Parts: sequence; structure tokens; C-alpha cells
Amino acid sequence: MPITPQELIANLGDLPPLPQVAAQVLRIAADPDSSTDDLQRVIATDQALTAQILKIANSAMFGMMREVRTLTQAIMTLGFNTIKSVVIASSAKNLYSRGTAGLQERLMWEHALYAALAARAYARQLRHPRAEEAFLGALMHDIGKSVLGLKYPERYSQLIRSVYNGQGDGLELEFELFGFDHAMVGEALLVSWNLAHALEQAVRWHHDPSQAEPDHQALVALVAMGNQLALDRGIGIGKPETLDRTTATARVLLGLDTAALAEHQEAVLQMIELDKSLLTEF
Ligand SMILES: [Fe+2]
Ligand SMILES: [Fe+2]
Repeated sequence: MPITPQELIANLGDLPPLPQVAAQVLRIAADPDSSTDDLQRVIATDQALTAQILKIANSAMFGMMREVRTLTQAIMTLGFNTIKSVVIASSAKNLYSRGTAGLQERLMWEHALYAALAARAYARQLRHPRAEEAFLGALMHDIGKSVLGLKYPERYSQLIRSVYNGQGDGLELEFELFGFDHAMVGEALLVSWNLAHALEQAVRWHHDPSQAEPDHQALVALVAMGNQLALDRGIGIGKPETLDRTTATARVLLGLDTAALAEHQEAVLQMIELDKSLLTEF
């Protein structure tokens, strides 16, 4: 019997909480009656988050003619959905930077962010309507690694070192060592954070998109593609070949043959170039 996220949470004990401001922002963004003012008031209580949002509003991604100076302006420029993504991203970043026991944190975060940009670019290129979910799903896809790093600092840093040195496949080693893997832990975390079900699916099945619920398979496939591209570019820990099977499945789920995929990939790489300022903004 596979272990449920709830059982996993029970086994793992306390999971890192979603930061309070983030939880409030998500609540406000989901409420159709809420206003820019409501959002502004909550975000303003968190200086780091405010600075991050202003930076992003002024990044090359938006190519604004005039500088965005206030939070209210930023919210109006970016819109509720992007603000929501930025807030989830900043929560994810904090966690990626805390996990993995002092090892390769920056690389973990850059891997997640690159995968997110790539998944979103694939979505746009393939005219898939769920580009923002692809971005968030890919951003969170390996968050379970950070949780494992926090929970089992010694054992997990040893494991990361083995993977880094090419001594095995991370997913298999995790399963041997703990009886569950980072995809399962990631799902458990998202369940406890009460994020969208689609994101839970993306994180849970990013190594095996065909196992996802039918409604979410294409979304998960986009996340898998993002993950692959990040590793292909050397941004992350692990050998790109370990994802070959996953990528083949994802490609089929997206209805692409290898030639079509190669063509789309060219376009995707160009789109990522444009978004790349995000990699340094955060
Ligand atoms: Fe993964
Ligand atoms: Fe990954």
C-alpha cells in the first residue's frame, strides 16, 4: 500500500509552515471581493517581500517605461496572479535555501527557478493555457528535497553528495534510505500548505507524469520538461540521463515527436533568455 501524504506527514512530524504573510496573500488573492488595498496592507508588513515584488515589477520581464516605486503600483502592474506567484516563489526560495543541510542550496534554488521558467516557456510555446501553474509546479517540484534535508541533515547531505558524485539515482537512493522519495514529501508539504491540487499533482508526479490524474497529466509533463531542461543546462544536481524515461513519457503526453520537441526547445531557450533576469532578481 503506498503511503498517503497524511501518513507521511505523520511520519515526518512537523513540516515547515507556509509563512504567515504568504498564507494571507493567497487567501486575499483567492477572494473575489478583495481589493488592491487589502493586498497592499498585508504585503507591506513584510519588507523583504515588498522589496522583492518591487524588483520584479521593475525587471526586464515587464519592460516598464516608468519605474514602479510603490507596492500599489506594483500590484496594479503585475496583477493579483503574478503577485501570488511571487509570494509562493519567495516562500519556496526560503525553504530551498534552508534545506539540503548547507549543501548546494543556491544550486537547488537556481535549478527550481530555471525549471519554472522553462516549464512556463514550454507552456506558452505549446499554447497550453496553464502556464502559470506550470511555473509554480516546477518551482516547487523538488521542495521535498529541502524538507528531507531539514529533517535528516546528515543522512540527506550524504545522499546529495553521492548523487553529485554520480554514484546513483537520487530518487532510488531516497527510497532505499527512507522508504519514500522527495516527490512524495513535496506533495505532503503542499497538502499541508493547502496549495492548489494541480500543484500537488505536479510535485508528486514530476518523475512519472503518466501516473498523474488525467486532468493534470499535461501540466505535470510541462513540469517534467522544465526539470529536464534545467539539468541539461547543468543547472542542478544529478545526471540528465536519469530523466530520459520521464521525458519520453512527458513528450508523448504533450503529443510531440522528437523532432517537434527539438524545434520547440529552441524557441523555449530563447524565451528563457528573455526571462533570465529573474534568475538574479530573486
Ligand atoms: Fe525531482
Ligand atoms: Fe529537479
